[in-house]
Amino acid sequence: MRLSVIGCGYVGLVTGACLAEAGHDVICADIDASRIAQLKAGQTPIYEQHLDKILVSAGKAGKISYTADAGEAIRFGDAIFICVGTPPRPDGSADLSAIDHVAQQIAAEARSPKLVVEKSTVPARTGIELQRALSGYSRGNGGFRVASNPEFLREGTAVEDFFHPDRIVVGVEDPTAAEQLREIYRPILEHQFTCPVHNGKCPDTHKAEFLVTTISSAELIKHASNSFLALKISYANAVADLCEKLGANVEEVTHAMGLDPRIGTQFLKAGLGFGGFCFPKDIQAFISLAATVGVDFEILKAAERVNKQRIDRFFDKVSKALWVVKGKRVAILGLAFKANTDDIRFAPALEVMKRLLEEGADVHACDPKALEKAKRQFPHAHYHDDPYKALEGAHAAVICTEWDVYKKIDWDRAGKLMARKLVVDGRNLYQPEKMKALGFEYSSFGRE
Ligand code: UGA
Repeated sequence: MRLSVIGCGYVGLVTGACLAEAGHDVICADIDASRIAQLKAGQTPIYEQHLDKILVSAGKAGKISYTADAGEAIRFGDAIFICVGTPPRPDGSADLSAIDHVAQQIAAEARSPKLVVEKSTVPARTGIELQRALSGYSRGNGGFRVASNPEFLREGTAVEDFFHPDRIVVGVEDPTAAEQLREIYRPILEHQFTCPVHNGKCPDTHKAEFLVTTISSAELIKHASNSFLALKISYANAVADLCEKLGANVEEVTHAMGLDPRIGTQFLKAGLGFGGFCFPKDIQAFISLAATVGVDFEILKAAERVNKQRIDRFFDKVSKALWVVKGKRVAILGLAFKANTDDIRFAPALEVMKRLLEEGADVHACDPKALEKAKRQFPHAHYHDDPYKALEGAHAAVICTEWDVYKKIDWDRAGKLMARKLVVDGRNLYQPEKMKALGFEYSSFGRE
């Protein structure tokens, strides 16, 4: 099928690239002409595992193209995926102006019937408003079907997730839209693609479910899923706080909890809490949506509060350990909001860095992928590719992101380089006994 993707951010680019790799003819559009120029020149503007590889192969096969002209993209596709940003407004609700703008462009530029697919995360009922906007602005130039097709991709493993989904949710108003979407996802559902992640040898996973729902249910499924995962993390963090007070070990507690299949082991990792451009904004948008219909989503407000307190607790640990922060050289290991991404949006590490700089610390930060982005935001800190350089002369090391390379740091070697053998671990990467045996003052979450 001929598909258009509007918005070349993390979601749009992965969606466009994977659908092209699966055999469709895809055009990707973005309002940012420099991003399009980069893509045309063969550069990938974001870091996402396997993405550059499939952009190259889809490009060579003539399956993907790019344009800064939304009109060109809109006229090309039978289906148009809207993947533009829905950032938070000051009151927490989602800013839908980019979606509205694209709706106006689609209504103005379409010359034939289009399936308009809402892929960006949006509050329930956005699809209905989108349908109204499209009909309102259209000048009899096509006829539009609207569908909601939320993505469940995790940054860092987005390509893998796209090709191996647990479920594909399509919210539609009529069976034709559902059939069109089934056709779009047929290669994924029937595993008719050469997997770029496993080189054709994919592990045996269960078959993805193709779920057809109403548009509002599809929208709600996305917000309800993300908010539940965020809630789970905050629950683990609240348990960690309790463990600290009661002398228990949170890793032991959450491991045993997770073995109950009704609970599950994932998303119970205590630490600095959740960041990124999805959970913090989605939880706020969900609370705000609920408030508009008179539902007080207390439980999510508590999850948000627990998450915000993580930074305060972490900073308390750092300042108690250092006694005086001013003038101390502090190494931050990890800036991205999680491992395997260069994304620093709402990253807990940046909040930690901001506070350390405000207190007068000499910050030496390190991250495998996110240094360039962080430099632009905090030009006064020092940056290193090599963690041992960041640790040289440091009075403390603070661990903010769970990168594999930091799990493997040789602390014996690092200890000899540091001015003081002090580690405050925001991601529980190391065993307290081992760190203490190496002569480190060591603190983490829920294991004191
Ligand atoms: C999240 C969801 O997991 C995806 O399913 C969803 O599609 C995506 O949002 C989205 O809405 O687009 P993502 O933001 O990439 O994906 O990140 P996660 O892997 O979910 O991690 C979120 C944050 O939670 C990270 O800061 C991570 O460090 C933290 N986290 C995660 C914990 O603190 N503890 C855990 O046990 C797990």
